[in-house]
Amino acid sequence: MDAKDDMDIAANPNLARDLITNPALSINNPDNADSAGKPVLTAGMTFLGQFLDHDMTFDPTSSLERQSDPESIQNFRNPLLELDSMYGSGPNASPHLYDQSADGQGIKFLVEAIPDSSAVSVGGFARFDLPRNGQNTALIGDPRNDENLIVSQLHMSMLKFHNAVVDYVKSELGLMNPGEVFTEAQRLVRWHYQWIIVHEFLEKTVGQPLVDDILTNGRKFYKWRNQPFIPAEFAGAVYRFGHSQVRPSYRSNFGPVPADINSQVFKLIFNDSLPDGLDPNDLRGGKRAQLVSSIGKLSSILGMVRYEPIRRLTQSCQPCCLIW
Ligand code: HEM
Repeated sequence: MDAKDDMDIAANPNLARDLITNPALSINNPDNADSAGKPVLTAGMTFLGQFLDHDMTFDPTSSLERQSDPESIQNFRNPLLELDSMYGSGPNASPHLYDQSADGQGIKFLVEAIPDSSAVSVGGFARFDLPRNGQNTALIGDPRNDENLIVSQLHMSMLKFHNAVVDYVKSELGLMNPGEVFTEAQRLVRWHYQWIIVHEFLEKTVGQPLVDDILTNGRKFYKWRNQPFIPAEFAGAVYRFGHSQVRPSYRSNFGPVPADINSQVFKLIFNDSLPDGLDPNDLRGGKRAQLVSSIGKLSSILGMVRYEPIRRLTQSCQPCCLIW
């Protein structure tokens, strides 16, 4: 959300939800409008874009190792939109990602319920976090999906979606062999994901006419010979457009009483002035998803959002990532 967004929760008890789902309420964020100035993107779409990136591109070489010839920069991520960032190398080669219990059969993903979370959630539903090791490092297919709380919760939702589809494949399609169930569930999850990309993400990001043109007439510029690849220009420049969409602050969840503004989780995405402790009061990743919000007065946080520019995305960030 943006600093100047409507905060009159008394007038609309569902405001926190509506700010996420209704682009018209993001009118104060000019980066999220179409060419006619009409807001089309909700705050969450940014993180779907980040999630897609982590499925498509990965250049782990440091600037010291990097060759000057861009043709030699290798993309370490399979460029297909098939969720290798989530499935890793599959249940056999990446067993640490999968739930080995009797229910999980090694084909559902590991997720962790946050203890006691149902007592502080709307509707009394338990909240979940990514599985983590003893040092809070997320056990997921791509570590970048724990870069901030929102992308990590999106990753977690996708893990839960796969798990629900596994149940569906067993109960509705009648498959029982774990290998077959996994293959069918993975196919259904990928198809739903790709449908969202074509029919929602691309439409909102590049516009329906361009999407229709490519679907009807095919690609004009992206060509490959032996194997599909992600051009360095796309990963290093074009697709980083999403960095400009990142907003200073977000409502990350709802407390137990939606109408009570003090129970809302409203935080800066990154607050450099806070130490990197166990539970910093911002949305940085690599931490356990919190049980309850520890926000101070909303007005003081709003003050920070308005007047303090956020000058970096992470400590390792290069100048091209700066957001203001
Ligand atoms: C809060 C949100 C985000 C944060 C904190 C973030 C942070 C970063 C960081 C630290 C890097 C690596 C540093 C570097 O190489 O410069 C990076 C790379 C990149 N980001 Fe983001 N990012 C965010 C959202 C997005 C979004 C929304 C998109 C696109 C829609 C995006 C696209 C990219 C791309 C294409 C790369 C290069 C990846 C590679 O090939 O290795 N990012 N981001």
